[in-house]
Amino acid sequence: MREDMGQKKLFVNTMGCQMNVYDTGQIQQRMAPLGFEPTEDLAKADVIIVNTCAIRAKAEQKAFSFLGRLLPYKEQKPELIIAMGGCVAQQEGHKVLSRMPHVDLVFGTHAIRRLPQLIQKIAATRCRIVDVEMASAIASDDFMLGHASSSDVATFVTIMRGCDNYCTYCVVPHVRGRESSRTPDEIISEIEHLVAHGVREVTLLGQNVNSYGKKEGFCSFAQLLERVDRVNGLARIRFTTSHPKDLSEELMLAFDRLEKLCPHIHLPVQSGADAVLRRMNRRYTSRQYRDKVAMLRSIRPDIAITSDIIVGFPGETEEEFSATLHLIDQVGFDGLFAFIYSDRPNAPAVRFDNKIGETEKKKRLQSVLNRQEILTQKKNEALTGSIQQILVDGLSKHLSYDADERLVADALEGVQWSGRTGTNKIVHFMQAPQNDDWNQMLTGRIMQIMIEKAMSHSLWGRPLS
Ligand code: 5AD
Ligand code: SF4
Repeated sequence: MREDMGQKKLFVNTMGCQMNVYDTGQIQQRMAPLGFEPTEDLAKADVIIVNTCAIRAKAEQKAFSFLGRLLPYKEQKPELIIAMGGCVAQQEGHKVLSRMPHVDLVFGTHAIRRLPQLIQKIAATRCRIVDVEMASAIASDDFMLGHASSSDVATFVTIMRGCDNYCTYCVVPHVRGRESSRTPDEIISEIEHLVAHGVREVTLLGQNVNSYGKKEGFCSFAQLLERVDRVNGLARIRFTTSHPKDLSEELMLAFDRLEKLCPHIHLPVQSGADAVLRRMNRRYTSRQYRDKVAMLRSIRPDIAITSDIIVGFPGETEEEFSATLHLIDQVGFDGLFAFIYSDRPNAPAVRFDNKIGETEKKKRLQSVLNRQEILTQKKNEALTGSIQQILVDGLSKHLSYDADERLVADALEGVQWSGRTGTNKIVHFMQAPQNDDWNQMLTGRIMQIMIEKAMSHSLWGRPLS
């Protein structure tokens, strides 16, 4: 890569959820006017930012261990600025500076817009700064128009931040603050801007999209989706996450009405036992959850439903855990993310009695994973022989390149591409090359694929068009 004189390099390590992926894009955009361009080489970086996640203890440990490994870089290059951002930064604040003497800046989840000034101040004075100030509402200059790299076919758009639900295990309300929404006009402008840069699919992000705009009196989330659906050039819309208690009939009906809305919903259930759901402060019963699933399926029979499960919540009995396994069988999820309960500071469950031992929690996690693996395989097998529309997101990752970074492909067989169905399943297929411009050829196109084989995590198919 060309080394511009005066060009500075920014390395960002993004940990955690999609919200952090979006925030990293915002960080890069904010830093660009200061002359920073992204690098993937730590040794070349002038500023290193670790965008952290606090959802489970393991994620937090990973953040600190990565920061620890940066010490030799600082010793080599004392002018290097090392910053911690994201949820752990928000949670730990000043404590990070004493624990990590080589860290210059700790900036919280609401401080991204102030990042350029903070970095400039540190570069000029070599001071150390902690900025974990939080605001109750989104300010007009909190977000910049979304950024898309030339290869992005699908990208995220944050529509709201924070959470007011206070599930008893969850750190999010404490590290992302109160729920607050961006204006519909700002969101639409951002999506139009992304589409103009080649994006075909957007995923609207919020901790609880169902309460979008309620506080501010903007419009309902379903009405926002309707506006997004009208954006010319956009092919697909997804959103995440939806709280089951707030999933409205209006939103469910949008799956039937809106042409671009993909038939997939991520609807975290967390547990199948009502007593556990009560202790988690989820405010729905397992019956109410299943009723919503039934309604979704009656409105949109092909809808894929995925979920999150926490195993080993404090006091979870064998019987309560069995209720979760039972719910998994009853619902038949298309995919499941399962997590071992982890104590988080500030989350009320940290003080709950009857904590479950690590060995038992691991055993329960394995049971959930085993159960779901069989179900996912079955769901995938049911698709063999069907024709699926997929949005091609590029070449499959495990392809090999020669010394000149040219793709090594068998000219007869073609190269392997991948994309996703509307139901969010990964599909791989081969396509014989037709010209030299591999990426231009299919990326971003909707293709009809005949599914020929089902694997546990993806599908294999043959292009029809
Ligand atoms: N321990 C384990 N899993 C958690 N999650 C949130 N907080 C915790 C915790 N303390 C899981 C939930 C949530 C997902 C994003 O992470 O399942 O839906
Ligand atoms: Fe956490 Fe519950 Fe809010 Fe989700 S809805 S972010 S689990 S408090």
